[in-house]
Amino acid sequence: MKSNDFKPFYFKLYDFKLNDFKLVYFKSKYFKLFHFKSFYFKSNDYICGVKLIICAMESPFIYGKMAESEFFIDREKETAQLLGNFKSLVNTALISPRRWGKTSLVNKTLEMLEKDKGFYAARIDIFNCRTEEQFYKTYVNAVLQASASKLDEWVALMKKHIGSVGPKISLGEGSSSYEVTFGLNFKEVQYSEDEILDLPQRIAEEKGKKFVICIDEFQNVGNYAESLAFQRKLRSHWQLHNSVCYCLYGSKRHMLLDIFGNYEMPFYKFGDLMFLDKIAEADWIPYIVGQFKKTGRLISKELASDIVRKVDAHPYYVQQLSHQVWLRTEGTCTAETVATAHANIIDQMRLLFSNLLDSLTPKQINFLHAVVDGVENFSSKTILDKYELGTSANIKNLRKAMLQRDLIDVLPGRTEIQDPIFAAWLKQQVV
Ligand SMILES: Nc1ncnc2c1ncn2[C@@H]1O[C@H](COP(=O)(O)OP(=O)(O)O)[C@@H](O)[C@H]1O
Ligand SMILES: [Mg+2]
Repeated sequence: MKSNDFKPFYFKLYDFKLNDFKLVYFKSKYFKLFHFKSFYFKSNDYICGVKLIICAMESPFIYGKMAESEFFIDREKETAQLLGNFKSLVNTALISPRRWGKTSLVNKTLEMLEKDKGFYAARIDIFNCRTEEQFYKTYVNAVLQASASKLDEWVALMKKHIGSVGPKISLGEGSSSYEVTFGLNFKEVQYSEDEILDLPQRIAEEKGKKFVICIDEFQNVGNYAESLAFQRKLRSHWQLHNSVCYCLYGSKRHMLLDIFGNYEMPFYKFGDLMFLDKIAEADWIPYIVGQFKKTGRLISKELASDIVRKVDAHPYYVQQLSHQVWLRTEGTCTAETVATAHANIIDQMRLLFSNLLDSLTPKQINFLHAVVDGVENFSSKTILDKYELGTSANIKNLRKAMLQRDLIDVLPGRTEIQDPIFAAWLKQQVV
């Protein structure tokens, strides 16, 4: 947090509820005093936090975390489609670039599904699972967590279904969750992997319920040592499950498209393929205006639209830029504030972006500049000369390399830089 984001405030003492000088909540839920080392009384009625910068309003925008409750907007069509798939046990692969809202969408849909007592739902994030063994461990934990609420139920399920692995159960801190650790090396007990993969189906059958398994960052399985064999194994088990459906999602579009869209791959035609879109400007505007209003600040629809357009409606950045604008707004937002906040976000990323460019070849950089300029026909002689891209045969390789680095997205009829702040920064660089 930067100190110039905050200003000292004066508050009437009777607005305080003091708690050990550590955390003081003010009357408004948007005020929080989070550091309280030194204070003095200015008069009988007032307390002053001049020496320390101590006050911050809780932001009415959220980014870098899952969007939930009041922060989650739109996606009616998508939640309905996903919920429909879950209820009728149709497998789904959900794909979009990073930070467009997949995790938030699946979470929202599962919240809706949880009202139906006929379902168990497991959320599994395999971002940190670098090996098959880690995958199995995370998987079994999540499946058991979703289906057993008490330790004795947990132990019973473990004993009954995966006894051959010899798992140990350890109680998590706070004792409300259980962690499973394995006593045996998976490689030594080949067939226990099968038991683990069939576990949701067995539990569903036994309990007379259905199971929805959602696996986030699924593209990671593409990096496992024997990825193809692993994918075959998953597919061969999962396709026999008639009480379970799988929702597999992630960000690396090119990898996921290879996994789900390539007819030589095990997951080809595994289920519905869903491409998540951005949230429309028309949905962002009332949200931004409303969140400002709730906190006693004003922004016009035109400036809210300016925020959305500056970051090309990228969900994460719309929330981040809105937050930065909101922080700088006292009373009513101005065009200048929006411009300053946008420049500030670009500035924060400057070092990262220049390091990124250092790792690219001059032709790759030129290619990115052409994408930013909206070029579509890369093979025309004028474009090849203007951006010094070499021969037209080069273009395919350049595009592939930039796709693999997740720097661009190739959509029907157009090529885009994935990160709108990177695009804005690139525009500022002289070629
Ligand atoms: N439905 C939504 N409503 C409002 N903001 C959203 C929504 N979905 C995503 N966002 C914004 O985008 C950010 C990234 O969302 P997340 O679900 O983590 O994306 P992904 O899983 O695709 O990387 C969130 O922190 C939030 O700022
Ligand atoms: Mg995510």
